[in-house]
Amino acid sequence: MPEKVEVKWLLAIETSCDETSAAVLEQGQIRSNIILSQDELHSPYGGVVPELASRQHLKSIDYIVSESLERAGVSLPEIDIYAVTQGPGLIGSLLVGLTFSKGLAYYFKKPLIGIDHLEAHLEAAFVENPEIKFPALALLVSGGHSSLYFLQRPLSYQLLGKTRDDAAGECLDKIAKFLGLGYPGGPVIEKLARNGNGKRFHFSLPRMKKPGYDFSFSGLKTAALRIIRENSLDGHHPELSDFLASFEEIVARSLLDNVSRAIVEFQPVSLILGGGVARNDRLRTRFSQLAEDNHLSAYVPSPRLCTDNAGMVGALAWKKYKKGEALKLDLELDAYPR
Ligand code: KG4
Ligand code: ZN
Repeated sequence: MPEKVEVKWLLAIETSCDETSAAVLEQGQIRSNIILSQDELHSPYGGVVPELASRQHLKSIDYIVSESLERAGVSLPEIDIYAVTQGPGLIGSLLVGLTFSKGLAYYFKKPLIGIDHLEAHLEAAFVENPEIKFPALALLVSGGHSSLYFLQRPLSYQLLGKTRDDAAGECLDKIAKFLGLGYPGGPVIEKLARNGNGKRFHFSLPRMKKPGYDFSFSGLKTAALRIIRENSLDGHHPELSDFLASFEEIVARSLLDNVSRAIVEFQPVSLILGGGVARNDRLRTRFSQLAEDNHLSAYVPSPRLCTDNAGMVGALAWKKYKKGEALKLDLELDAYPR
């Protein structure tokens, strides 16, 4: 009989956009989750420059992986499984993490699991709340995606709607760029909007031509740019904080409007929030309020687990392994941008 090998340590790598991250999990529990953000590198350009992002991943990845191992108190030969984000994301960035983890898995003859970045964002809420009950509705709001999912049971993701144009985070980033506030826009807008009057500027909720749960943010962006021009708003204007608070408010409302309608149709017992924009306090508060109004449980990951991190990638990989997904070293594993 073959000797039964105990699987204990998992190393996860995430390089889908502009964070280089590595995490070590012991029996599915996150022991280290190192995140190196490239925000400063991209800030002068008002957005992520793909070519710079992949070069920076190349420079940082071995250090970040070493750091994650050291913090977890484990060495590379002890790792039993490797996990890596396969997509969606920037192709050059994805390939850095993918090739790096393929190299390690090949050298140590260990299995490698490819993970979908969006599913990993949805998994983040489960890291701190493994007890989440199903069915659940999950709202994913990041720089690249704004999507609503129905989760009938663990690891099943039914896409109900997605953005037809800009993602919510992308929209915040573009408005910040236009006002010369730097990148990423979400955190700087949140800071400046904190004491603003969210009712001062009026925005209409986007109306979709077709019924369903798709989102659209390009109309809001155009409306925001019109208000900026009409009121000659800039980074120093006295009404800037009111404008940004009003804008945050309408972004949150348009996201939650869809969730509200989906609650009626899908009758979930839990609401899950994920993605970088889920760090936003106004959105977190409105989301929890919506859950409370509907007598549902709301699960919002702590801020560090909202933005891109390898911990969520590892957590999802561990669940897939536990569910019995075939474990193999697939050197054909490819990155996908969309
Ligand atoms: O999930 P994420 O780290 O990367 C993607 O997968 O896209 O999300 C990044 C997005 C950016 O658009 C950024 O502006 C936004 O998350 N973001 C925020 C906040 N922190 C990050 N948006 C609003 N409020 C924040 N505090
Ligand atoms: Zn992300």
